[in-house]
Amino acid sequence: MRWIDRRQFLSRAWKAGVGLLAVAAAWTSWDLLKPKPAAGYGAAVSTVSPDAVPEDTILEITAARAYLTKVNGDVVALSEKCTHLGCRVPFCDSSGQFECPCHGSVFNRAGDFLSGPAPRGMDRYGVSVVEGVVVIDTSDVIMGAPPGTQTIDEPARGPSCTEGAG
Ligand code: FES
Repeated sequence: MRWIDRRQFLSRAWKAGVGLLAVAAAWTSWDLLKPKPAAGYGAAVSTVSPDAVPEDTILEITAARAYLTKVNGDVVALSEKCTHLGCRVPFCDSSGQFECPCHGSVFNRAGDFLSGPAPRGMDRYGVSVVEGVVVIDTSDVIMGAPPGTQTIDEPARGPSCTEGAG
C-alpha cells in the first residue's frame, strides 16, 4: 500500500475542490445562457379552440397583438398594427369595422382596406391548429391585401367609433 504525505494530500484535495468549482460554474453558466423556447409576441402564441373564434366579430389576443376572426369559415389572425404608420387599430363594435384612431384608416372585419391613408389591408399572421388550439405564429407576417380587395361583403352595421372624435 502506498501512503501519501500531508502535503500531497492537501495538494490533491485543493485541485479536486477547484475542479468541482469549475464544474459548478460551467453548469450554472449553461443553465443561464441556454436558449429558452420561444413564446409570446415574435414567436408562436397558443390561443383558443377554433370553435371559440367568432364569425361576426373579433377576439383580441393581447399576447400576440392580434385579432382572431373567421373569414369564409377559416380562422384568420390579423395584426393589430396599422399598415399606415403602425398605430394599434381597435375594432369598433358599433360599425363592425377596424378604425385607426391616428389618421382614420378603416378596414373591414377581414382586414380589407376600405378608406384612409393606409397603403394596404391589415397584415395577417400564419395560423395553425395544434392539439385542438389555434396557434398564431407572429414571426410569420403575411402582407395585407392591396386596396380594392374585398374578401367579405360586410358594410358598416352602425355608427363609427372615430367619426367626430379628435
Ligand atoms: S397609423 Fe393608422 S391611419 Fe395612420
